Amino acid sequence: MRSRFLVSFRRSLSFKRISETVEPSESRVVVQGWIRSIRRQKEIAFVDVNDGSTLRSLQVIAGENLNVDNLCIGTSVRIGGNLTPSFHRGQLVELKADEITVLGQCNPKEYPFKAKRRHSLDYIRQHPHLKSRTSFFSSVLRAKNAASVALHAFLQESGYIQVHTPVLTTNDCEELGDLFQVEPQSYFEASSDRRSHFFGTPVFLTGSGQLHAELLACGLGSVYTFGPTFRAEKSHTRRHLAEFWMLEPESCRLDSMENLTNFIENCLKCTLKSCLSKCEADVYFVSDYSSQGENKSLVHLESAIEKPYLRISYTEAIRILESSNETFEFEPKWGCDLQSEHERFIVRYCNNTPVFVTDFPIELKPFYARDNGDNTAAAVDLLVPGVGELVGGSVREERLENLSYRMRKKGIDTDYDWYLDMAKFGAMPHGGFGLGFERFLQYLLGLDNIRDVISFPRFLGSCKY
Ligand code: 4AD
Ligand code: MG
Repeated sequence: MRSRFLVSFRRSLSFKRISETVEPSESRVVVQGWIRSIRRQKEIAFVDVNDGSTLRSLQVIAGENLNVDNLCIGTSVRIGGNLTPSFHRGQLVELKADEITVLGQCNPKEYPFKAKRRHSLDYIRQHPHLKSRTSFFSSVLRAKNAASVALHAFLQESGYIQVHTPVLTTNDCEELGDLFQVEPQSYFEASSDRRSHFFGTPVFLTGSGQLHAELLACGLGSVYTFGPTFRAEKSHTRRHLAEFWMLEPESCRLDSMENLTNFIENCLKCTLKSCLSKCEADVYFVSDYSSQGENKSLVHLESAIEKPYLRISYTEAIRILESSNETFEFEPKWGCDLQSEHERFIVRYCNNTPVFVTDFPIELKPFYARDNGDNTAAAVDLLVPGVGELVGGSVREERLENLSYRMRKKGIDTDYDWYLDMAKFGAMPHGGFGLGFERFLQYLLGLDNIRDVISFPRFLGSCKY
């Protein structure tokens, strides 16, 4: 028992992630990963191995004493040897192998990816279960990890407490009207006259954790929830998913439109900056890959990090749209929702800088958005180039009378007593927002299609695996 522990302890000392193989080593090291490509020469073979820890693959030199016959793209291997300086441009070290163990064979004929080939995003998308083996998608996932860590860090440093809001809920916070209902399979199979509800009431997959987060903020001051969110989106667009992750901060300090927009701006700037510093190579690689060398995403990131975000009211936005010479499919009119063609125009009009559109007609926003007293509500959308709406938020209606009135008017006064209790028992002015995490990644990486930033996309007509 003890000696087995010692063996595995010694092995762990020599084990290195490829991200750690940056300089020649005095002692022997062991790496483990998947073969990306192999080039055989007469007496030597060059094997590129990647383990997912970094964009960079490690070049392994296998001499004629090692058997490389059964190595091919996709094979998983454990390799021991010494890290020596490399004279190859663009790489610091290479691994002179003294041992190669095949951990898992791979049939190159059936494996969907080919060595040194630039597969199109469309092609990669068709292999959701294997796409983490590509440089493209492993970079996306590392950038996604960096973004998640950076958002948590920003909120923690700002004094926000992470809470978990339920995935199963009875409320329709966003007045979506069509949520995914949840029942055990046997309940759906029962004949309709015997049908009842598992929870005793209809229950749905959450469309937003906001209402629960508000209740928790009115006890903890500042909270955030970060989890999966579900929307029965009935269209195929490049920025909608049926399952996505949303970050939802809620705080008694976000009690005015100014405080709310300043906080969102700060949060995004810090997060983008952190992603660039932690994952620069991945961000550059993905944006280059998708734009085929145009490098378009990083130009917009500079302005998103450096420049102040603009703020215009919904009323001003409509005025800008009405007075433009652009022909829109949907005529812009005060009282109508902004369509994506309108959002695109506004962003262009604002020189491709992120822009907050504030104070929407009260009828367009859910019951919880604070009444400004002039037919508008203190709600905000942040529009960014390439994506459109990245964030939606509001100052919340904490006045009991206003809240009950709005809910009654919309016919949603039943089952929400618990929510009204917040306003009844010492409510504080507060506000919050929702950041679509996949849209954030789309923006960071300059990707056109939201399905390229999620491992297993779910959308109308598709739920693979
Ligand atoms: O604007 P939304 O619907 O706002 C809310 O749900 C609020 N309750 C949030 C809050 O204030 N706590 O959604 C927020 C963000 C959008 O701005 C967008 O980035 C993203 O969530 N989003 C989606 N992302 C991917 N696919 C979809 N179907 C999305 N719907 C919204
Ligand atoms: Mg919205």
